[in-house]
Amino acid sequence: MEALKGVRILDMTHVQAGPTCSQLLAWMGADVIKFENPQGDATRGQLRDVPNADSLYFTMLNCNKRSITVNMKSPEGKSVFVDLLKKCDIIMENFGPGVLDRFGFPWEKIHELNPRIVMGSIKGFGSTGPYADFKAYENVAQAMGGAMSTTGMPDGPPFVTGAQIGDSGTGLHLAIGLLAALHQRDRTGQGQYVEVAMMDGVMNLCRVKFRDHQRLTHGDLSEYSVPTYKGMGEVPRAGNDSGGGQLGNAIHCKPHGANDWLYVVVQEAVWAGLAKRIGPEIGMPDLASDPHFAHIGERRKNQQLMWTLINKFAEKYTKREFMAILNPLDVPCGPIMSTEDLANDEHVRGREMYVELDHPQRGKWWNVGMPIKLSASPARIERSPLLGEHTDEVLREVLGYDAARIGALRQAGAFSAPPKTRG
Ligand SMILES: CC(C)(COP(=O)(O)OP(=O)(O)OC[C@H]1O[C@@H](n2cnc3c(N)ncnc32)[C@H](O)[C@@H]1OP(=O)(O)O)[C@@H](O)C(=O)NCCC(=O)NCCS
Repeated sequence: MEALKGVRILDMTHVQAGPTCSQLLAWMGADVIKFENPQGDATRGQLRDVPNADSLYFTMLNCNKRSITVNMKSPEGKSVFVDLLKKCDIIMENFGPGVLDRFGFPWEKIHELNPRIVMGSIKGFGSTGPYADFKAYENVAQAMGGAMSTTGMPDGPPFVTGAQIGDSGTGLHLAIGLLAALHQRDRTGQGQYVEVAMMDGVMNLCRVKFRDHQRLTHGDLSEYSVPTYKGMGEVPRAGNDSGGGQLGNAIHCKPHGANDWLYVVVQEAVWAGLAKRIGPEIGMPDLASDPHFAHIGERRKNQQLMWTLINKFAEKYTKREFMAILNPLDVPCGPIMSTEDLANDEHVRGREMYVELDHPQRGKWWNVGMPIKLSASPARIERSPLLGEHTDEVLREVLGYDAARIGALRQAGAFSAPPKTRG
């Protein structure tokens, strides 16, 4: 937790995209002050599994942060915001378009108040262009960034991926931008505005699909298992094809349940060994010298048959048994791991990628760990804060407010939602 020691972040982010980023920065040692609407980040109450406890949606994305509630719609709340702004290195937000402007704090104003501060902003589509005014959630970004049109089977509907590439993926992009801007700030003394649009982040993650898009102007995509042709225009959905130069597919294994599959990459270098091992068991002892599969070109052409043969071999084995057969042959492969498999996996536990935590409202729970391992700055994962848990602490320690001042601000409604008016 040493890497970002001394870096203080005013974190106005909510839901998933922004909090992913600030949680990672907290795990690298930044002091992240989650600056919340007095009603709290909406995810505190979303998909609740334990009554009256912060949801896992919230707890899993907000570890190692301090929470302060401030009503930005009151003049007193705004004055607290300005004071904090002057004490922070980074401010970050992922509100819908125009929210900060409506508070009276566009980037220009923030930069004027603290020229050293770096500002990170996530928007669905950025602040310019015809889509700039639209809100976005994960699957909207996946739809508009090219992920959905290229995911699924060609004769079926487009699919979203389980990996949250629109939200968490954008948070990762923002973290990179913020760290670069901080580095520049340390040299120049000047902060800057860092913007990541979710649609842009998804496009970046779909880069190889745009490789294929352009290849289609010169010919077909020979490695695809589905038909393609020169001038096709759109990159088709290609099921479980590998997406790279090597052929790959998911192979169904015993006992043929939902996740009894092994993903196998038939790398050029391993074909001979693989064919020698599986051929005899499927009644094709000469598979390794069969001209239908002699080189990658032939295997691309005849890949449906090749997958049928490998599936036939796999019928007798579980995914782990099949993996144990392929590992010594150096065939790149991996079992399709369910969440249950991963939650109990020795390798995962050993790498601290699924860690147990305690929470005052919900008791024991698990979070996915820190995927970036810094040798001189190991992460120490601590539970997420309760709503407003650190309001007084932050006002005292960071801003130097005394009890009388805090009391007066509280009385004026700086930290609470305005009472509902009858109407
Ligand atoms: C995610 C999203 C669709 C949610 O939309 P939403 O629930 O309508 O929330 P918004 O961000 O648009 O608005 C937040 C509201 O809370 C209010 N609010 C936020 N913090 C506040 C505070 N500290 N004090 C008072 N009010 C506050 C804002 O003023 C705003 O109200 P307004 O519209 O009256 O100005 C939207 O925030 C968005 O598009 N964000 C950018 C893209 C993104 O990150 N999406 C993925 C999220 S995982």
